[in-house]
Amino acid sequence: MPDHSSSPVLQPVKIGDLSLRNRIVMAPLTRSRSDDDGVPPAFAADYYGQRAGAGLIISEATNISPQAVGYALTPGIWNDRQVEAWRPIVQAVHDRGGLIFLQLWHTGRISHPDLQGGEPPVAPSAIKPVGQAFTKDGMKDHVTPRALETDEIPGIVEDYRRAAANAKAAGFDGVEVHSANNYLLEQFVRDSTNQRTDRYGGSIENRLRFPLEVVDAVVDVWGAGRVGIRLSPATTMPGETPLDSQVMDTFGIYIDALSQRGLLYVHDIEGVTQETRDADGVDFSALRQRFDGAYIANNQYTLDLAETVLEKGDADLFSMGRPFIANPDLVERLRTGAPLAEAPKAYWYGGGSVGYSDWPAMPGDRD
Ligand SMILES: Cc1cc2nc3c(=O)[nH]c(=O)nc-3n(C[C@H](O)[C@H](O)[C@H](O)COP(=O)(O)O)c2cc1C
Repeated sequence: MPDHSSSPVLQPVKIGDLSLRNRIVMAPLTRSRSDDDGVPPAFAADYYGQRAGAGLIISEATNISPQAVGYALTPGIWNDRQVEAWRPIVQAVHDRGGLIFLQLWHTGRISHPDLQGGEPPVAPSAIKPVGQAFTKDGMKDHVTPRALETDEIPGIVEDYRRAAANAKAAGFDGVEVHSANNYLLEQFVRDSTNQRTDRYGGSIENRLRFPLEVVDAVVDVWGAGRVGIRLSPATTMPGETPLDSQVMDTFGIYIDALSQRGLLYVHDIEGVTQETRDADGVDFSALRQRFDGAYIANNQYTLDLAETVLEKGDADLFSMGRPFIANPDLVERLRTGAPLAEAPKAYWYGGGSVGYSDWPAMPGDRD
């Protein structure tokens, strides 16, 4: 088998004040194994601990409040029971010398009344998304959301602040603000989903106001050096296109503001997550150059592609999602050129430890 031990992607690197064992990041992966109260299971400690060979783990998207929930069986970080359940999960990663950030999530309109106590989900504007929500009773059509009142928005910022503080109490090394894939923050950023006429809509500055208020609240708690953000400038999720009439202007100004705040990293989904690396009208290299911190590139990366992009200086870290599902020791496999296992989609969402924390490491590996 080819030996890639000397690959620059697999060498230790310093990002801000964090020392990473390599440049491979485990991308956030929703696995829907939490209970109805948003408490993650004990066996999530096995799952995340087994994957501590990544330079950095980003947790599955985690709801900041009951209102944030948009998928059944996803975890939360708004109450003490959830914090207590996260603590041993984080510890398992630390015990193996790994680092783990929590991804902070509010799904906005990508939800369903079944997940909202019968009420419609909230959004910047009352615009129904295409597609369906994952509820306890299976997939159900999205509904028209309720547009948030201006005076409700500061309360959501406070929900983020509390969730960020809870993540700190649980022992995480930092947090990633989920501003991608047309969830609540991106719904505010995009002019197709934000048609507000108050100070949170209209101009680019106004559309960025709420996401930046969230970032500022989270930075208050953690300091900018432990806060990253996930963006998806080229996404077409959940299926409407185009989402934005001025995408390079919008994201250029967004990234400038994030850079000014000294954020640790921007984590870009290049193209449409899972589907394609084509990024119609989006120049990721140009966006990256506007950001002074680290840049995590994502979407369909292989070790080969990561090496090429690192050599060009176009990214610092590379996140991989699907390959981590069935390969707990993914970095070891990349190092040794060992074949990668593939998880059937039936194991992606829902269920117990089977297809989740029972994927074996290679024989002879530390697991
Ligand atoms: C099962 C599954 C769950 C995902 N959950 C999340 C999530 O919670 N948060 C997020 O930002 N992206 C999520 N994604 C997107 C991945 O982080 C990543 O962008 C995508 O898998 C493309 O990277 P890859 O080609 O290395 O798999 C998920 C993807 C998959 C396959």
